[in-house]
Amino acid sequence: MTNESADKREVGRVSLAEKIQGRQAQLKQAGLLRRRQKLDSVQVEPTKASMHFVVDGVDYLNFSSNDYLGLTQEPELLTALNLSAQEYGVGSGSSPLVTGYSQAHQLLEQQLCKVTGHEAGLLFCSGFSANTALMKTLFDSSDCVVADKLVHASIIDGLVDSKASLKRFLHNDLVSARRLLEKHKPQALVTESIFSMDGDSAPLASLSRLCREQGAWLIVDDAHGFGIQSALPSNTVPANADVADIQVVTFGKALGCQGAAILGSQVLIDFLVSNAREYIYSTALSPTSASLALAAVKLTQGVSPKALTLAGNIAYFKQACVSAKVVLSESMTPIQPLIIGDADKTVEVAQQLKALGVWVGAIRPPTVPKGSARLRITITALHTKSDIDKLVSALASMNIEVLASLVIRPVVR
Ligand SMILES: Cc1ncc(COP(=O)(O)O)c(C=O)c1O
Repeated sequence: MTNESADKREVGRVSLAEKIQGRQAQLKQAGLLRRRQKLDSVQVEPTKASMHFVVDGVDYLNFSSNDYLGLTQEPELLTALNLSAQEYGVGSGSSPLVTGYSQAHQLLEQQLCKVTGHEAGLLFCSGFSANTALMKTLFDSSDCVVADKLVHASIIDGLVDSKASLKRFLHNDLVSARRLLEKHKPQALVTESIFSMDGDSAPLASLSRLCREQGAWLIVDDAHGFGIQSALPSNTVPANADVADIQVVTFGKALGCQGAAILGSQVLIDFLVSNAREYIYSTALSPTSASLALAAVKLTQGVSPKALTLAGNIAYFKQACVSAKVVLSESMTPIQPLIIGDADKTVEVAQQLKALGVWVGAIRPPTVPKGSARLRITITALHTKSDIDKLVSALASMNIEVLASLVIRPVVR
């Protein structure tokens, strides 16, 4: 491009460089600038598996990981990875409809169907692409979809791209959901099983009954529930084919690896194979990732010792917080938010915790609603009681003022 034409393009409009700088400055001003944090490499020693990492030479206790069962360090998965690489190679080499779909993928799809009761499954490289593909492919401008106010960004992005009419119901509120179902007669209702930033569970059994009564499909994003069912309170309804018409599971949380699947009827999956652009025009999930996820699914079925340890750690953490007068939400899952409200204050508290060797996520808008910035504490099976004691005494020493109005939210079931 000549200088003259480049200059012309910039006449009367803000240049891209200026736009980027302006937006970054606004984010900085609002305390919402995001930065990556590089972790030092770790030698995974299975006998010493722990929830620690090193940043700039400093050792931290990690209370910010979605690796709820500690499977990222599981020796059986390392073995599965090696065996799969020898059998299939490390990459799939093409998109699934060309030659990228192998037996490793099929075995995982079959296992996922076996444990959830769905007829068929389709694998994606991430939960984000599974959700956007599902929403964009299934819905169009002639559809209406009702979704919980707090569903994940990938669901919202997919629904916005689909051009469907989107109505949001109050978080986990059955009365609000019913009102929207009756008024708008949507094709589907979308929720999460365990909410990623709040750690509370959706009333799946009631939502399922409501959807059937109203003739809408129930779509459940099970990213944070899949794999830890036996660590949850016994009355928690699993997001399987009994309640959900479509279930999205991800492999990057409790399974400790990477990728995702959409599970549903054979007709649905055949439709997605022919129409989902994210599936058709993208290199297939690597066979090693599929074999890893398969091994992880097998490890997490039934009552596993890791899930029992996780349940014990969640209970221990909650009790220790009660004793130390640290106010938590009602969450009984590995995700334990401490809602502070102000974004800057939340970052400040997270920095103070880091100075004490404890790493928790500082979650700010737009990831969570404005005014509800929070520490997102995650408890895992690899934490020891003394790790949890260290976290709780660090939290107690902060004198954190939590937003009481957001701590106890009425859940209508
Ligand atoms: C509820 C929920 N759905 C979907 C995703 C996306 O999954 P993935 O990390 O595999 O892209 C996430 C991850 O943050 C999530 O929390």
